Amino acid sequence: MCPSDKNLYDRPVLIAPGVYWVGYQDTIYNMHSNPYLVVEGDEAVLIDGGSRPDFPVVMTKVLQTGLRIEQIRAIILHHYDPDLCGSLPNILDLLGKKSVQVLSAEANHMFIAYYLAKEHHPLLTPTEAYPEGYDLNGRTLRFYPTPYAHAPGSFITYDTRTKTLFTSDLFGSLSRKWDLYAELAPECEQCPDYEHCPNGRDYCPLPDILDFHRQVMPTARAVRMAMETIRGLDVEILAPQHGSVFARRSDIDFLCRMLAGMDRMGIDERAGG
Ligand SMILES: [Fe+2]
Ligand SMILES: [Fe+2]
Repeated sequence: MCPSDKNLYDRPVLIAPGVYWVGYQDTIYNMHSNPYLVVEGDEAVLIDGGSRPDFPVVMTKVLQTGLRIEQIRAIILHHYDPDLCGSLPNILDLLGKKSVQVLSAEANHMFIAYYLAKEHHPLLTPTEAYPEGYDLNGRTLRFYPTPYAHAPGSFITYDTRTKTLFTSDLFGSLSRKWDLYAELAPECEQCPDYEHCPNGRDYCPLPDILDFHRQVMPTARAVRMAMETIRGLDVEILAPQHGSVFARRSDIDFLCRMLAGMDRMGIDERAGG
């Protein structure tokens, strides 16, 4: 399931049953943000809804799935950055009086509140209120904390029906050559030089993934902890908030090992830790 026709990305893309990519490509900063929509029956959850400037694109794609805006029951925000929360006021304005849950870990609420008009503050709902998972019409979405990867309240969401893991900035990348899907080769694990692929691929996604983590993650220890959590889950599709989707178990296992093995991210370099 690797769309090669780039025009496909002008529309929502179904990446798993009931799971749509509703993202966009940014050819200026390579910030290819990936909001997702999970639809079950007549209700849906929007995941990491996107930035304010990209609101029209994301919302058009949401509607192109056939969903009506009022069918969105909750918005999951994996942390408080503007690239995933910026469109929140626009979405809530569009919903008008229809109430929707704004779901995030409690540690993120004090910052997410800054995106909201005062009357919308009661919509903020802690994910901690759903220790057994969030029930979307019989489909369970489970939340797992990934502290400091990269915000103190960062977490990830696991769709138990399709085994899709929404990882937010983890596994993200400011891909210089973006495609919605990326695949690795078995040889990648032993590759001595990701910049010059021995297999002759003109673009390897790995250097951009590594750079992104070095840049946005505060310390390798936090990512290592997150990888321990992810390794305990049965993941078939890895759906990050930037970069590409990975849909092969061998690639997902390799990426987890690679990121868990990195020893220098964020402050580690400066602190020599
Ligand atoms: Fe972020
Ligand atoms: Fe991000």
